[in-house]
Amino acid sequence: MRVSLTFLGHAAFQLETDEFRILIDPFISQNPVCPIKLDDLKKIDYIFITHGHSDHVGDTVEIARKFNSTVVTNFELSTYLSNRFDVSTHPMHIGGRFEFPFGVVKMTPALHGSGIIEENGNIIYGGNPCGFVISLKGQKIYHAGDTGLTTDMKLLADEGVDIALLPIGGNYVMDVEDAVIATKFINPRKVIPMHYNTWEIIKADAELFKKRLREIEVECLILNPGDSIEF
Ligand code: NI
Ligand code: MN
Repeated sequence: MRVSLTFLGHAAFQLETDEFRILIDPFISQNPVCPIKLDDLKKIDYIFITHGHSDHVGDTVEIARKFNSTVVTNFELSTYLSNRFDVSTHPMHIGGRFEFPFGVVKMTPALHGSGIIEENGNIIYGGNPCGFVISLKGQKIYHAGDTGLTTDMKLLADEGVDIALLPIGGNYVMDVEDAVIATKFINPRKVIPMHYNTWEIIKADAELFKKRLREIEVECLILNPGDSIEF
């Protein structure tokens, strides 16, 4: 096995190699479409968080404490998580690149919010929302995070993205038509749609997205929650 990528529903993914296990936006226990329980997780080495919204931070604190995982996110969210919950973090920021033991990661901009909603309803500043380009075993995976369509995505064409994980659910993020334009900007080899059909408000037609991508000769892999691909 080289790399296996598992869709956990919404924007949550697990990446696994022989040496490392990585979660992105681990929204598990409260995720209505997540097929696994927290107890099903094996040792997680790294957790990537794209922004402070609860459907992305998800179960980060519980998982990071259990496995002593390193949480990789923007500086503000890293500081909040380490100060408040005493989890290990690696802060990055937009445009920054860093070589981790498993590979190189670049933090990319996303057009969205990142406020952290406290239990009392107060909103804490959560820094800039982001995406990640993660290089793993010679493959580049781009997780866009929550984002609207932005011309910044044109810069990703030079990255040589193999697999782009793009939101298509609309309302809070890109819809199908905007995600098609994003795909043209990014020019990845394959696209996996995410952040749709978790709730009614982000309902989207993934088959339509696939059809539209076929017209521009980009392969679209529709994963159901729990599905894995290896590459
Ligand atoms: Ni969000
Ligand atoms: Mn979201």
